[in-house]
Amino acid sequence: MNFAGANILSVDQFERADIEQIFAVADRMEPFAKRRMVTRVLEGAILGNMFFEPSTRTRVSFGCAFNLLGGEVRETTGFKSSAIAKGESLYDTARVLSGYSDVICMRHPQSGSVSEFAAASRVPVINGGDGANEHPSQALLDLYTILKEVGGRGGSIDGLRIAMIGDLKFGRTVHSLARLLRLFDNLHIVLVSPEELAMPEVYVEALREAGHKVEVSTELMSSIAHVDIVYSTRIQEERFASQEEADLYRGRFRLNQEIYTKFCEPNTVIMHPLPRDSREGANELDNDLNQNPNLAIFRQADNGVLVRMALFALILGVVDQVEQSAREVNWYHRRS
Ligand code: NCD
Repeated sequence: MNFAGANILSVDQFERADIEQIFAVADRMEPFAKRRMVTRVLEGAILGNMFFEPSTRTRVSFGCAFNLLGGEVRETTGFKSSAIAKGESLYDTARVLSGYSDVICMRHPQSGSVSEFAAASRVPVINGGDGANEHPSQALLDLYTILKEVGGRGGSIDGLRIAMIGDLKFGRTVHSLARLLRLFDNLHIVLVSPEELAMPEVYVEALREAGHKVEVSTELMSSIAHVDIVYSTRIQEERFASQEEADLYRGRFRLNQEIYTKFCEPNTVIMHPLPRDSREGANELDNDLNQNPNLAIFRQADNGVLVRMALFALILGVVDQVEQSAREVNWYHRRS
């Protein structure tokens, strides 16, 4: 695809070559994200970061990614602090905000809202999550992480065994990841959830049509026994009719070190888009996994900056200039 000026709304936009291109650029962002080098290639550019749903990682890492390329960030969070609370339409908001920015990231609770917004926007829009529908930048960083984690062992995405666990009905990260995995070959995918929170059939069918082996299960232990990747997710309580209903599923698939040691192969990588629900009774990934070298969740979150820098550099057409304006950082930075 031609990235310059493009919206990023769905992973369905990508071919395998596009993903390889994004990841090659992401690799080049490492010296900047790791604070060894500074680049000012987006000096003067403005990112409009519009988050109408709670977000820490996605919002801050999009902002940091833009800052690390030398750009400025303007932010709106929540409906209350925006004119949408006064009845303004997405169309009007998009027309106005796109006059203030060079690119916009948007998260919104309604499926399809970011596409509607993008249709009215005068600048490129990146979907930071639209309801239970899609979260394309998360799927890219998840895939990038999978590749990095198995790469050291000579692996590639093709042929991997991946378990997705938790709320597969409302979780947009697993929806986007499942769609993206259609581009690869010969995967074995295990979908583990309570029956009521199963992966929608449309995604399951699409994975099967892509030639992957798909298993559906409601049982954790047997499902994680023979996989390379365990991708755990949070119960998306904000999408349930009531808290009581969401609580019915809380803590159903708790993974801790004891279960990992007993059931997983020794090198199984543990991932989670975060936030993990660490409250008592939920605890989908126990803190006792924090010392497990295969717990990739924080590397995964770090990778979000690289992938988002790559998206900005591609969309704003500065990939070739990134290193030109690079210099070493002039402050002390702890390297760990
Ligand atoms: C996810 C999301 O918002 O969909 N978080 C994120 O962006 N990393 C997952 C979640 O909230 O459970």
